[in-house]
Amino acid sequence: MAAIPRQLLIRRPDDWHVHLRDGAMLRAVAPETARVFRRAIVMPNLLPPITTAAAAAAYRERILAAVDASTGFEPLMTAYLTDTIAAAELERGFAEGVFTAAKLYPARATTNAEAGVSDLAHITPALEAMERIGMPLLIHGEVTDPEVDVFDREEVFIERHLDPLLRRHQGLKVVFEHITTAEAVAFVAAGPPTLAATITPHHLQINRNAMFRGGLRPDAYCLPVAKRELHRIALRGAATSGEPRFFLGTDSAPHSRQAKESACGCAGIFNAPHALESYAQVFEQEGALERLEAFASEFGPRFYGLPRNEDRIELVRQPLEVPLMMELGGAGESPQPLVPFQAGETLPWQIKSATD
Ligand code: NCD
Ligand code: ZN
Repeated sequence: MAAIPRQLLIRRPDDWHVHLRDGAMLRAVAPETARVFRRAIVMPNLLPPITTAAAAAAYRERILAAVDASTGFEPLMTAYLTDTIAAAELERGFAEGVFTAAKLYPARATTNAEAGVSDLAHITPALEAMERIGMPLLIHGEVTDPEVDVFDREEVFIERHLDPLLRRHQGLKVVFEHITTAEAVAFVAAGPPTLAATITPHHLQINRNAMFRGGLRPDAYCLPVAKRELHRIALRGAATSGEPRFFLGTDSAPHSRQAKESACGCAGIFNAPHALESYAQVFEQEGALERLEAFASEFGPRFYGLPRNEDRIELVRQPLEVPLMMELGGAGESPQPLVPFQAGETLPWQIKSATD
């Protein structure tokens, strides 16, 4: 085996799936993403959801106001598909450069998905327009049928909805978001060039046991929920394979402590502070560090048809202790207590700071 390098200089990455929230939480978490990632596909599941180009443009301004302008951070906005969304609104927003993509949440599949799509037939005109103009469709791929076991919802979504959808819309660019199963890996690998998938750090790092380690662990709960070990192994294989249709999307999804530690706790893992370091750990463990750059910084822009970032970021092989709790917040605001993913663990890589 080749010796492990001490430094890694890679093209600056982008995050192709993140929740930046709004208000004080936005000001707390957005700087963590902007520090590392040049662009991010920003999820539209606010309350109310982002369904118009005007709302997306206003949200983009709030994001830009929450981050240090010197980072050059560029939020890429998405439209939240509802049963009644007008194809013309998507087309206009895309033409104006406000919308980069549109997000499909099956109604009630996850946090703030109440207004999602109840039947794909309702959005046929929207999908036809997107196919025509080259606007990608980002899919939360889980069925919401309560009869289906929660651990099977992704696999069943493929058969019932995703496969038929790809057959109906053969020119539509589709990103199967935050995949969690071996079935999804196999489906994407065998799929058309118009189909890609994002993979989160947490689905590469944990299996479902993490939610029950010594007690109920709300910080390991997200949707789609982590699955069995065999699925984690398949995801690690996909992410490190060098196959360009698997790329980085953190799905960092912060919630207040109150919302996590509750009788009905919210799904979401907050990994933004150390996401790149977490991926680097996985790629090192898989003996694939030389493929990290392509996964993190090249395959995403290639699929979206966007230029790659030109500047570089340096990772150094120095232990990084992930804090048990982070208190983040905008200047003059009361800090938000947030538990980062891998809290209390030591990661082998860290990002070299400007002062090093
Ligand atoms: C996300 C959230 O909290 O907005 N939660 C999550 O567990 N990933 C929603 C989502 O992407 O499913
Ligand atoms: Zn998400």
